[in-house]
Amino acid sequence: MPNPASETAKAVMTLDGAPHEFPIVVGTEHEKGIDISALRSSTGYITLDDGYGNTGSCRSAITFIDGEKGILRYRGYPIEQIAKESTFVEAAYLVINGELPTRGQLGCFSGLLTKYEMIHDQFKHHFEGFPTSAHPMAILSAMVNAISCYYPFLIDIDNEEEFEEAAARLLSQVRTIAAFSYKKSIGEPSVYPDPALKYTANFLHMMFSIPRKDYVLDPDIVHALDLLFLLHADHEQNCSTSTVRMVASSGANLFASAAAGICALWGPLHGGANVAVIEMLTEMLQNKIGARQYLEKVKDPRNKLKLMGFGHRVYKNFDPRCKIIKEWCDKVLAKLGIVDPELDLAKELEAAALADDYFIERKLYPNVDFYSGIILRALGIPLDMFTVMFAIGRMPGWIANWREVWRDPNARIYRPRQIYTGPAERQYVPIEER
Ligand code: SDX
Repeated sequence: MPNPASETAKAVMTLDGAPHEFPIVVGTEHEKGIDISALRSSTGYITLDDGYGNTGSCRSAITFIDGEKGILRYRGYPIEQIAKESTFVEAAYLVINGELPTRGQLGCFSGLLTKYEMIHDQFKHHFEGFPTSAHPMAILSAMVNAISCYYPFLIDIDNEEEFEEAAARLLSQVRTIAAFSYKKSIGEPSVYPDPALKYTANFLHMMFSIPRKDYVLDPDIVHALDLLFLLHADHEQNCSTSTVRMVASSGANLFASAAAGICALWGPLHGGANVAVIEMLTEMLQNKIGARQYLEKVKDPRNKLKLMGFGHRVYKNFDPRCKIIKEWCDKVLAKLGIVDPELDLAKELEAAALADDYFIERKLYPNVDFYSGIILRALGIPLDMFTVMFAIGRMPGWIANWREVWRDPNARIYRPRQIYTGPAERQYVPIEER
């Protein structure tokens, strides 16, 4: 159960001349909200907030973001410290369970991920049903939902032990499914997980080993991808996480909720932006469009263009994840001896945008997706798998949010209201009279 935020003063709303009081809810970091849960019953009014930019859908104890200050914390720990000191699996444990694990707890958690890393052997035949050209996000969402077909006892989770198994199977097998879908897309045989390898190393093994020739695991490369997963582990009530909570609120199982989250993440305005950034940079280079020239195209509303990887609903300052990823871009490319003109162009774009009034006035800064694709490509991850990487990284956050809904005795089904703008009542017209 999330720590109930304290309640203090009241908000007074005057509607049709009558005052109405509503409680003020205050969060751990003193963020304030007006609790309008009694608004309709006491006034007949609802609120309207297109895109939920001003609406809190829940209380949650998992992640805190201060968009104005560029702060991101997992369960109170600053992302900068987690990124420097931790690993993806440890961060996943923290996000899901609320505390940093002891050595023993981490060993047990890691052991469960190893225990459940294999997909059911029958399950692998599902891959045969997809065309080679199938988008890996379509495969991932379908296959994650289908996990429950092989473990029906994990559809209705009744206790923490069943949750622990379902969470471990999902977190571990999302990696296996992703790697299997990649292998299918390039016509290579699937490579089974190696129980001797840790999470991210095992994923790279499944992605890039071939029968009788194991992929050579470079510790810096493994660390770079592990860090990317870690930086994506959770991010408050973003589009895909809210989707997971929406589906979870109906009582749907963890796998169905995560599959819905994968679908929401796919969009280019959300997790699909890491692909869109590379496509934007590639197009600029191919058409010899410079940074300033491209920004002018973005600023012209007739072009309906966005600077992909820039802007954020919450961050009106630097996305702390972007700073860390940008540093690692330089390290990974230097380590691999790669000179990537798209990285140079991205840095030019960032510098130009940050000095441009259009972006300054709108508080548009680079977000997590602006540089992540540069690293993913340097690691050999194919472009259409970039958002799959985001989904693997975000899985702990989705699991943690699903658990908050599942464990909340006061949880209600998400069912927003609307303002109807369609035709007023009218009578049916027989077809011969239309
Ligand atoms: C992620 O929510 C999360 O936490 C998401 C995420 C996570 O970890 O889960 O952080 C991951 O999804 C990051 C965002 C990835 N998406 C992109 O990089 C796509 C490009 N960005 C934009 O589409 C946009 O910034 C959004 C979708 C991210 C946010 O959109 P908002 O909050 O609805 O902002 P808005 O459309 O209201 O923009 C306000 C103004 C508008 O201009 P005006 O109408 O005032 O003239 O800023 C402009 C927008 O046109 N604007 C941009 C822009 N983003 C906003 N103009 C140019 N380029 C952009 N990228």
